Amino acid sequence: MQEPERLRQAAAAVQGRMPAGFRPRVGLTLGTGLSGLASKIQVKARVPYAEIPGLPVSTVQSHQGELVLGSLGGVAVAALAGRFHLYEGYSPLEVVRGVRLLAELGVEAMVFTCAAGGLDPAMQAGRVMLIKDHINLTGQNPLTGPNFDAWGERFPDMSQPYDPGLLALARRAAQDQKITLYEGVYVGLRGPSMETPAETRMLRILGADAVGMSTVLEVIAARHRGLKVLACAAISNVNIPEDMQPAPIELVIENASKAGAGLEAIIAGVLAGMQGQ
Ligand code: HPA
Repeated sequence: MQEPERLRQAAAAVQGRMPAGFRPRVGLTLGTGLSGLASKIQVKARVPYAEIPGLPVSTVQSHQGELVLGSLGGVAVAALAGRFHLYEGYSPLEVVRGVRLLAELGVEAMVFTCAAGGLDPAMQAGRVMLIKDHINLTGQNPLTGPNFDAWGERFPDMSQPYDPGLLALARRAAQDQKITLYEGVYVGLRGPSMETPAETRMLRILGADAVGMSTVLEVIAARHRGLKVLACAAISNVNIPEDMQPAPIELVIENASKAGAGLEAIIAGVLAGMQGQ
């Protein structure tokens, strides 16, 4: 089965569970340790991934697997609580299927969250970095293969992947609420092994401010579909080549959760700002 048909079936399954008249405007993807945002949603329906044909069931214990439909900051949202990573063995098409499902349901924008390792020594774990650009070092691209013209172009532009209007709303929300907000370049790797000191040094030289194992493929798929994109990374650890420390998953989850409150407040502020537009 080709992806468009697969996505139509997935969307039909969700539409069958959606409250009458509900149409999500913004899609959210909740990263490691960041599922707290889902608890802020005034829930209208929850659809487990197992009931959505074509969506794999997430294998990482730190991710749930359900689509949460409801309202956040007065905006109708659809949140993917649980995402799919290349390191789990999923194909690039599977990694982005959730995002394409939300596009099929009619969202106009995607807000991605993720945990990431800081590469700027001035950073502190537990803070939030607005992703203003990215480097895809996964060696994969979800647009490989036949292009589905109804979705987007063969060679989608990536000169401005992160929406300037949404970035401005995020900066304003952080300023209004006195939340420290870094901004920088996120580099996406395939994982799952963490980086060596030499790799960490290389990533910094390449111009990255934070490193993670998600987000970049999903952003590419969202831009291909013409969705506006905002992405925020919770800095869960800081990697310094001369003084590398282990960053076990427990620490990543703990510190990402610490960043969670600020991140939730920023996203709520962005949604409130969008409501007026
Ligand atoms: N490296 C890669 N991915 C990550 C890290 C890291 O240090 N922290 C959280 N996700």
